[in-house]
Amino acid sequence: MRILSGIQPSGRLHIGNYFGMMEPSIRLQEQGEAFYFIADYHALTSIHDPAALRGHVRDLAIDFLACGLDPEKATFWRQSDVPEVTELTWILSCVTPMGLLERCVSYKDKIAQGISPSHGLFAYPVLQAADILIFDSDVVPVGKDQKQHLEVTRDVAQKFNDRYGEGLLRIPEPRIREETAVVPGLDGQKMSKSYNNTIEIFEETEKKLRKKIMGIVTDSTPVEAPKDPEGSYLVQLFSLFAGADEVEAMKASYRAGGTGYGHYKQQLFEAVWAHFAPMRERRETLVADPAYVDGVLESGARRAREKAREVLDRVRAATGLGR
Ligand code: ADP
Ligand code: TRP
Repeated sequence: MRILSGIQPSGRLHIGNYFGMMEPSIRLQEQGEAFYFIADYHALTSIHDPAALRGHVRDLAIDFLACGLDPEKATFWRQSDVPEVTELTWILSCVTPMGLLERCVSYKDKIAQGISPSHGLFAYPVLQAADILIFDSDVVPVGKDQKQHLEVTRDVAQKFNDRYGEGLLRIPEPRIREETAVVPGLDGQKMSKSYNNTIEIFEETEKKLRKKIMGIVTDSTPVEAPKDPEGSYLVQLFSLFAGADEVEAMKASYRAGGTGYGHYKQQLFEAVWAHFAPMRERRETLVADPAYVDGVLESGARRAREKAREVLDRVRAATGLGR
């Protein structure tokens, strides 16, 4: 089984990214041939400062490794080190109906958030399809917001196969875990860096993390009154970090009343801080060893490039390109 996923280097990572994409990817590296990359071509749609882009790529590499991506088990590289993917993007563009892209909600969402409408932003899902298809991927672990992009990928692969031959491109399956499909942010909306409601995986200090968690929006139920745990995003967040019995205990305490939200926020804070403590330590080591991080990405790129070449050659031959 080949597992593939990518993530854009477009800012600090938050726990939505962690539970939606990183943690499932890290888990899957034990179960198959894992391919994970830093989507810097994609980030060009929104990051226009070269120094910022380079910085984000480095931070992302360090953070993903700190969280447990194991370069002995997974191939890990920077997307732009495998330029073959852009050639496949063009070829796929020529089988992609305009209507398919026009239906994509992420394009409209991003424009609504203030990202400038470029052809790159519009064609973003075709590049993503190429990322996936160029590695003959079977499984793609992502958060729920990527579901439509995976559907586009499958449609594009099928269109290509219809035109040039069945079985040429492998049709991938998304892997979206229901429990963590959408991690809520501080205000209860989907956690996203565009909504300014994130809890970062690596908040700079304990104090900053506590302050953020204390700022989670709750209703005005008085301390002594019973509270409804269903639909409480404080409980939802806590359940990402705690065992089933701890979650049950929190829910029972909600129903019993007599405890204020501040207490639950403190519990959540402690669970988050403890969960990422070992990763924070590993991160320090990685920050101090940039040559190691560069080496991981370079050898990952070499391996990825070989695989990509195989599929691209197959596609070129099928389409009549080249000799
Ligand atoms: P953001 O919304 O902060 O810009 P991205 O769109 O860069 O995050 O998402 C990167 C990865 O993290 C994707 O696989 C996405 O599905 C996942 N992800 C992002 N936010 C969440 C969330 N709140 N819950 C679950 N998964 C998420
Ligand atoms: N679009 C994805 C995101 O915003 C990132 C991405 C690019 C990706 N190429 C991919 C994810 C291929 C999975 C597979 O998070």
